[in-house]
Amino acid sequence: MALQGKVAIVTGATGIVGEGIARAFLQAGATVVAPVRDAGKEAGLRSALGSPPADRLVTPVDAYTTAEGSKQLARFVQLKYGAVDHVVACTGGMVPMGLLSTVTREAFNTAAHDRVLGQLYLAQALAPLLKEEAGSSYTVITGRLGEHCNMPDGALFCIANAAVYGLVQALQAELRSKPQRVNELRIGAIVRRDGKAEHPHFPGKRSHPASLVGAQAVAIAAGSQSEEIIRLYLDD
Ligand SMILES: NC(=O)c1ccc[n+]([C@@H]2O[C@H](COP(=O)([O-])OP(=O)(O)OC[C@H]3O[C@@H](n4cnc5c(N)ncnc54)[C@H](OP(=O)(O)O)[C@@H]3O)[C@@H](O)[C@H]2O)c1
Repeated sequence: MALQGKVAIVTGATGIVGEGIARAFLQAGATVVAPVRDAGKEAGLRSALGSPPADRLVTPVDAYTTAEGSKQLARFVQLKYGAVDHVVACTGGMVPMGLLSTVTREAFNTAAHDRVLGQLYLAQALAPLLKEEAGSSYTVITGRLGEHCNMPDGALFCIANAAVYGLVQALQAELRSKPQRVNELRIGAIVRRDGKAEHPHFPGKRSHPASLVGAQAVAIAAGSQSEEIIRLYLDD
């Protein structure tokens, strides 16, 4: 198995894409730390992932995309494992929908908070936990909107995604002299939960199972890519 004996932090595992990534990492043999923000979602996640043994799937309850919560998660992981092999940062879901001309300050702040600031806190807290080895990797999950806005009423998706592209660049620059690899996995498609027929917010639209993203995230962790944007454009 590609990630046998490795320890990975996968954030956003209660979400559509993160669940698929957590499942793929477990299937590849990794121990997965999947923080949950709401204790009520812990059992559901565990069951969705096939109820793996407690030492293979660890689900600390933590507001991990806040300034303090991200540090608390890092302290928890450091105490338990010392250092980790991989981080996959997959957080922040929907944003308020609307054309650019209708975006309000409140909606902008919500999108920036949920989709950008959380990624910043995670990078600050979790990147230092990576083993100082070329095998270690930090992968940020993003979406294609931001590179090409093919959904006019997804203005805030475009703005927030583009900000996260920049965050990845900055993290790559900061770690350039170190062996750890930093990559972006950019999804160009609607992704649904494995086992579901559609995305809950885009009924009737063509979608793809999260397992495809999970397989790609495992390949990046087990591979040698560094400073790359890996594009998973499933409709092209
Ligand atoms: N699904 C798609 O079609 C698609 C397509 C392209 C790209 N992506 C990318 O995949 C990533 C995850 O998307 P998703 O569709 O899996 O989203 P999702 O189903 O809404 O899941 C979002 C995950 O992020 C967590 N989260 C942590 N802090 C958050 C915050 N402040 N606000 C909102 N959520 C927060 C959520 O936790 P809770 O469960 O506690 O809310 C949940 O686990 C995003 O970066 C997105 O750009 C998704």
